[in-house]
Amino acid sequence: MKKYIGYLLVALVLFSACNGTSEKSAKTTEVKEQVVNVYSQRHYDADKTVFAMFTEKTGIKVNVIKAGADELINKLALEGKNSPADIFMTVDAAKLFRAKERQLLQAVKLPNGQKIKAGLKDEDDFWHPITYRARVIAYDKQKVSANDLSTYEDLSDKKWNNKILVRSSSSGYNQSLLASIIEAKGEDIAKTWAQGITNNMARNPQGGDRDQVKAIASGVGEIAIVNTYYVGLLLNSSNPEEKKAGEAVSLFFPNQDDRGTHINVSGAGVTKFAPNKENAIKFLTFLQSDEAQTVFVNESFEFPANSSISLNETLKSWGDFKIDALTFSRKIENHEKGVKIFDEVGWK
Ligand SMILES: [Fe+2]
Repeated sequence: MKKYIGYLLVALVLFSACNGTSEKSAKTTEVKEQVVNVYSQRHYDADKTVFAMFTEKTGIKVNVIKAGADELINKLALEGKNSPADIFMTVDAAKLFRAKERQLLQAVKLPNGQKIKAGLKDEDDFWHPITYRARVIAYDKQKVSANDLSTYEDLSDKKWNNKILVRSSSSGYNQSLLASIIEAKGEDIAKTWAQGITNNMARNPQGGDRDQVKAIASGVGEIAIVNTYYVGLLLNSSNPEEKKAGEAVSLFFPNQDDRGTHINVSGAGVTKFAPNKENAIKFLTFLQSDEAQTVFVNESFEFPANSSISLNETLKSWGDFKIDALTFSRKIENHEKGVKIFDEVGWK
């Protein structure tokens, strides 16, 4: 097929060379720009690097529209068949499951699927994992010992009163964590947990995950619930203050003796009406490739979905850990229940 297109282009070029009037139409056929349109919730520099690498390799231009996941889902739903989007990309699988449930995505098989870590995939292939990150406990190296830590559930114990730092309940990361606790332990225990955490907070929630680690460094609290890659970004920051904040904490991976540590899977799917479906499949395939995955590891300090990638020193230093692959974000109704619980317990 490629050969024929090649012949056709050569024929068109030759034809246009000897026929001025057809020149314009021949050129249009020849240079029609190849694009992939991406609706993305991700906000990392690594993505820019990876998208540029993809364009360099394939000649396909990547157009990105960034917004919150719910906003992008609504946009896709409103645009319907007329949507220019080919790809929907998020930082948490919960939103991908939601897009799948609302019939905004289509199933596609990717050729290198076999290298993808078990337990991260959508079994129907409506979306595909790119990276994952663990939601862990960052603790003050000076004041807390790893021996005092065990599970997410334990953080609701009174012994942590006034010591816990965590961002607001509007964060999808916290909503997914609570949804996983609802899934694992039921609604009542999850509510008691959220109440306990709220009671133990060192201050009202403010800022992002990095701000919780910085607050530990400045003595506001002793324990923060954060995503791993934010600590990776702090440790490798060119800003000495940020580096110092990262160095003030150690990471603890909770629930290693039972269901494992909660993760967010960042992934993407091909939209239902993708106008550039072939390019979208090439794009997703590239995101899972060794070269792209290496950039995600080294520039955004995420764990690679592709299991053949070697980790950098920062990620290696955190060690192997058991993933909670069963309860991550799958059930949309648990998210809805979680949002209600956050409200009821006053987690701001
Ligand atoms: Fe993030």
